[in-house]
Amino acid sequence: MFLDLLENESALEVLAQAVALQRQGRPVINLGVGQPDAPTPAHICEAAIEALRCGKHGYTPPLGIPELRTSVAAYVQKSFGTTVDAENVVITPGGKMAICWALLICGGEGAEVLYPDPGFPIYASMARASGAKGIPVPLKEENDFVMRASDLRPLLTNNSRLLIVNSPHNPTGSVMRAHDWQEIEELVQDFPQLTLLSDEIYSDFLFDERERHASALHCKSLGERTILVHGWSKSFAMTGWRLGWSVWPKEFVAKVFSLAVNSYSCPATPLQDAAIAALAGDKASVVSMRKNFARRARKITEAMNAIEGVVCVPPRGAFYVYPSLAGRGLTGSVVQKRWLEEIDLAVVAGIGFGRTGEHHIRLSCAAADEQIDEALLRIDAWFAKNP
Ligand SMILES: Cc1ncc(COP(=O)(O)O)c(C=O)c1O
Repeated sequence: MFLDLLENESALEVLAQAVALQRQGRPVINLGVGQPDAPTPAHICEAAIEALRCGKHGYTPPLGIPELRTSVAAYVQKSFGTTVDAENVVITPGGKMAICWALLICGGEGAEVLYPDPGFPIYASMARASGAKGIPVPLKEENDFVMRASDLRPLLTNNSRLLIVNSPHNPTGSVMRAHDWQEIEELVQDFPQLTLLSDEIYSDFLFDERERHASALHCKSLGERTILVHGWSKSFAMTGWRLGWSVWPKEFVAKVFSLAVNSYSCPATPLQDAAIAALAGDKASVVSMRKNFARRARKITEAMNAIEGVVCVPPRGAFYVYPSLAGRGLTGSVVQKRWLEEIDLAVVAGIGFGRTGEHHIRLSCAAADEQIDEALLRIDAWFAKNP
């Protein structure tokens, strides 16, 4: 382990700065952090309160209570159309923990870990800290930021141990379709030592309601070597609850068990009842968030593309917009700093997601429509003042 190589997550840094400024009374609009603006639905909160009232205060099995692991398996069957064994389901404190475990198990010295660039920064940070060599796979604007087998092929070697794919994607909103997965499935046939980490935590947020989420689990030979990462944070507006679910190839489950025993012992007990209520209960809030995110993403994308020198590939899922300011000669870092200081607007510089993001920024659609309208006015005024 090389703990000195761990990096910070810039979205969380920006959140801390925005909150500090808000405490000083500044009218900061936060389009930085990636968390739904809706509250956790009441029936989920009630289930947690009820669990506490019923005295569910003690430790549970490290991988989660059997009822919850079975609920997740049933949920995967219903929403992904794929059969998974409850024994392979793991409950963790947040999806991030599953990513961390995957990198500790599959990374390490001598291993190569491939991850999307741009991408969720924890992939690169944990890969390096595990001792592995991190290999960024460029997601290209001309491919709508979808990971293509042709970009991946030259980077695979006999030392490749983990390939990370994220769809719908943070920060670009790109979405893999079935044929994109098939290309990757074919490509990795020649690399039997490679495990896939498919981070599908935004699968409930596809902007086109007619589109079905394409999962790595839908490809048979890929599914068998996939660690599927998901959770309650995004789908049910539960970011602060810290609850994730993941599905692992059988041979890794005992390792995850040991890691859980040696760190957090078990996921928080009363929250596991709430997690069952979330999966089994009414999904109206999920549908409403999806519609809101789609509408706001469209609005932000149009506004960005209307600014001279700004180019924005329309996102197809998740809840982010990722424009490039290269045509204005601006780096995302400068914009992140100046917008927070000058127009009380928090956004995240693209460089926080990888080297390809130097001229990009990420704006979150998880804010009220009025706030987004006001943010877009401030952005227009800023560009008018800074031609
Ligand atoms: C792509 C991606 N994966 C995983 C996570 C982790 O989510 P959590 O740990 O809250 O479940 C996030 C959070 O922002 C994310 O954007």
